[in-house]
Amino acid sequence: AAAAAAGDAADAPSRPNHRIKISVVGAGNVGMAIAQTILTQDLADEIALVDAKPEKLQGEMLDLQHAAAFLPRVRIMSGTDYAVTAGSDLAIVTAGARQLPGETRLDLLHRNVALFRTVVPPLAQHSPDALLLVVSNPVDVLTYVAWKLSGFPPNRVIGSGTNLDSSRFRSLLADHLEVNAQDVQAYMVGEHGDSSVALWSSISIGGVPMLSSLRESDVEFEQAVLERIRKAVVGSAYEVIRLKGYTSWAIGYSVASLARSLLRNQHRIHPISLLASGFHGIPDDREVFLSLPAVLGRSGVIRIPSVQLTEEEGKRLRKSAQTLWEIQQQLGL
Ligand code: NAI
Ligand code: LAC
Repeated sequence: AAAAAAGDAADAPSRPNHRIKISVVGAGNVGMAIAQTILTQDLADEIALVDAKPEKLQGEMLDLQHAAAFLPRVRIMSGTDYAVTAGSDLAIVTAGARQLPGETRLDLLHRNVALFRTVVPPLAQHSPDALLLVVSNPVDVLTYVAWKLSGFPPNRVIGSGTNLDSSRFRSLLADHLEVNAQDVQAYMVGEHGDSSVALWSSISIGGVPMLSSLRESDVEFEQAVLERIRKAVVGSAYEVIRLKGYTSWAIGYSVASLARSLLRNQHRIHPISLLASGFHGIPDDREVFLSLPAVLGRSGVIRIPSVQLTEEEGKRLRKSAQTLWEIQQQLGL
């Protein structure tokens, strides 16, 4: 299973003069934040937008096309028929219900699984060689659903997972330490949700491991601060949803960073939702998707570096895996 989750080690064949096409399914808050960020970061030659609301879809497409004078030349298409996505290199799925204030991500499960049953098969049929990147919530279970419905190998089906949570973790740590968030390396792993796990031992500041560099006298204080920061990360989506009704900008940048690593074959490491069976004591027969740091490139998940988890961290990861697996048993996939 561990081998299955990662793609062939060989890089995808280089394809000179190939036009990179990205499809975004769901032209809502998140889908359009992603499309806009992909445009401004010049990550695609073609962008296809799909949504169930034809007028909104047409309006979003025209509004982006009107920015052409300020952007690299990109062909922007849209349609309610999945034929518009044909030949995508990367298909990003953001379609679905979002949490109302107070709702958990898992509360969206049945509505969004039903939606995925209508979205994923045509998407996969029109782009059989695409990388599939799931964003809709609950993202870990929906990535499993997309894997099952697409028939793609697991290395080509990933979820945005805790790439966003880790960004929030790094930004709060950076504020606390008064350093640039780009010089803070730190991972949240497991479920993109209430049970996500902060890897304390992964925290390094400018390449210097944080906990091991603390003086004995500072450890207790810092661990209390770190726990407060972890709780703030887990609560941050609920806070933003309470304030503005949804989250969009951070996930837009998070997904664009994944698109860059995937399509530019960067071999960068990101914590993303992947087939975690066989890792950290998760049984081989438990087909669950959870976030672990993975090397990403043009073939999707290239490999999954071994990460040291404490016994407590491993126990929490396995508990999340069991919870998601039990939920998945109800889906009949
Ligand atoms: P939204 O309501 O603004 O957009 C959803 C879009 O999906 C709407 O435009 C709707 O017309 C479209 N849609 C619904 N059914 C469809 C279908 N059958 N085919 C095509 N399009 C369809 O919601 P928003 O804020 O964009 O959130 C979208 C999803 O992304 C939610 O599930 C939300 O929880 C999730 N999300 C995930 C994050 C993550 O870190 N994984 C972060 C932020 C949001
Ligand atoms: C977030 C939710 C919406 O983390 O998944 O922003």
